[in-house]
Amino acid sequence: MDPHYPMIVLRDVTKMYALGKKGLVTAVQGVNLEVSRGEFVIITGRSGSGKTTLLNLVSGLTRPTSGEVLLDQVEVWKLPDVEQSRLRNQKIGFVFQFPSLMPSLTAWENVLLPTMAEHVPQRSDAKARAAELLAEVGLADKLEAYPRQLSAGQQQRVVIARALINEPELLLADEPTSNLDEATEHEIMALIQRIYREKRITVLLVTHAIELARYGSRSVRMAGGRIV
Ligand SMILES: Nc1ncnc2c1ncn2[C@@H]1O[C@H](COP(=O)(O)OP(=O)(O)OP(=O)(O)O)[C@@H](O)[C@H]1O
Ligand SMILES: [Mg+2]
Repeated sequence: MDPHYPMIVLRDVTKMYALGKKGLVTAVQGVNLEVSRGEFVIITGRSGSGKTTLLNLVSGLTRPTSGEVLLDQVEVWKLPDVEQSRLRNQKIGFVFQFPSLMPSLTAWENVLLPTMAEHVPQRSDAKARAAELLAEVGLADKLEAYPRQLSAGQQQRVVIARALINEPELLLADEPTSNLDEATEHEIMALIQRIYREKRITVLLVTHAIELARYGSRSVRMAGGRIV
């Protein structure tokens, strides 16, 4: 990626969904946002304010109805499918709202999943890397544990380790703490903040919890699909 350009540029982006025969839902409306390399931007907003839609627009999973979405100067959704998945696999780490681990795989196997993608070069030290990342998120003693043997907070730590395995430049996180108690929520936010500082990556995180905005280097508020 080119260090002189913002990591993310949204220019007057609108996303509308068709809803039955009745009409359209505007999930994101006229959003302008730039995220520079090395920023940790937190987007807060109530349920339904368009946060997830915005993240999906950034990763190219959703195509904008109008406006421009650039990830390091590239309109991801315009790339051929193969290029899109390569870009996502190599450049972006994802942390989703709900624990999304494979129940039949151990913690370290789950962490390795993104390296199994076709377009990612295989590394001989992959298992050691997974163990290293699990240690970084505080799970050195849980390498062989299955998701059901882990607490929700521990599962989310595995998800974070998994998001980092391909050494992404950008971490996208959608409500990474929403199903956790308050203390665990703060632990996970502190962990993401530490990773952000140590690895010098760019982070875009969305949450409905306004009190978590302080973990970022900047926060942005959404309401009714707009940035307010
Ligand atoms: N695929 C879809 N089809 C139709 N409407 C959608 C679709 N996805 C989202 N919406 C609508 O767009 C609006 C924004 O949804 P979005 O999921 O982006 O909100 P959110 O801020 O992430 O909410 P939450 O905090 O509950 O996750 C909502 O009104 C939602 O119903
Ligand atoms: Mg959402």
